[in-house]
Amino acid sequence: MPEVLLCEVGPRDGLQNAKHLMPTAAKKAWISALAAAGLREIEVGSFVRPKLIPAMADSAEIVAHARGIVGLRVVALAPNLKGCERAVAAGAHKITFPVSASRAHSLANVRMTPEQMVEEVRRCVVLRDGLAAAQRPAIEGAVSTAFGCTMQGRVPEDDVVRLAELLVNAGVDSVALADTVGYANPAQVKRLFRCVRAAIGERLDGAHFHDTRGLGLANALAAYEEDVRSFDSSMGGLGGCPFAPGASGNVITEDLVFMFESMGVSTGIDFDQLIAAREALVRGLPQEPVYGHTPQAGLPKGFQKAA
Ligand code: COA
Ligand code: ZN
Repeated sequence: MPEVLLCEVGPRDGLQNAKHLMPTAAKKAWISALAAAGLREIEVGSFVRPKLIPAMADSAEIVAHARGIVGLRVVALAPNLKGCERAVAAGAHKITFPVSASRAHSLANVRMTPEQMVEEVRRCVVLRDGLAAAQRPAIEGAVSTAFGCTMQGRVPEDDVVRLAELLVNAGVDSVALADTVGYANPAQVKRLFRCVRAAIGERLDGAHFHDTRGLGLANALAAYEEDVRSFDSSMGGLGGCPFAPGASGNVITEDLVFMFESMGVSTGIDFDQLIAAREALVRGLPQEPVYGHTPQAGLPKGFQKAA
């Protein structure tokens, strides 16, 4: 069993912010290659208004493809009840809702205040609970802009804790903390994960970092040291929220895998096959720049992956 779970969010967070569209067939090939590399959880798309994010218009077809990959947990993002219904109909195993701690970002992103969004999530939980057991997806509330917001500026930690509590009260299975615009630093990460865990315990699950100011890996390590074992990352460092000014790419999957594996922390991911998946990404989106230190430099001589 891998010691940390990496959820690849490139097909969603990455492609929603890319300047070019990846054809549906290329998305499927990329997702298959990611799964072949050992990624066990992939956020493959989002059920948002296609008019706002055309890159996500084929998400139902993508979820159907991903569902056919044995052993893969298929995650999709939804911004409202309608998106949740679409994600359920497509067959997502887990649905993530962006619930921004910043009122300004929440309004820009989903046209709801944080409190209205919590009520929307509550309606989605009711919908989910009414489904037959085999069809019931897990529901996660991702607290966006938890570490600061380009529109609002500082986001009080108490607001994040309160939102996490409201989400648990609304019935979510798990809560993630997301640094949507790359403002977080490791000391802040440790403090906020500790505060939120004190409030909601085991429901606190994942960490979602962006590398906008170069602290993505440092923040992931800080979260790991606070016993977080579930991390979002994006291949090639694609990513960013189109409704959060200044947002840029996620923490880079390839470098995160190298960090953990070289520390002796197993990810279950094979580096050579990860590079093959990176080639599938580049083939599908040749105009888009991809980043990553380890893919450029190669693995160190004598590198041993975690046992
Ligand atoms: N999927 C597809 N269509 C949707 C939808 C969804 N999840 N939610 C609403 N719509 C449609 C409605 O049916 C309606 O269609 P119509 O004009 O043909 O009748 C139209 O969109 C307007 O509906 P409304 O409820 O007024 O939505 P809105 O315009 O206030 O938009 C959101 C609200 C949440 C759907 C939209 O802001 C959104 O998709 N945000 C996500 C942004 C995003 O992807 N951010 C990055 C990821 S965090
Ligand atoms: Zn993100």
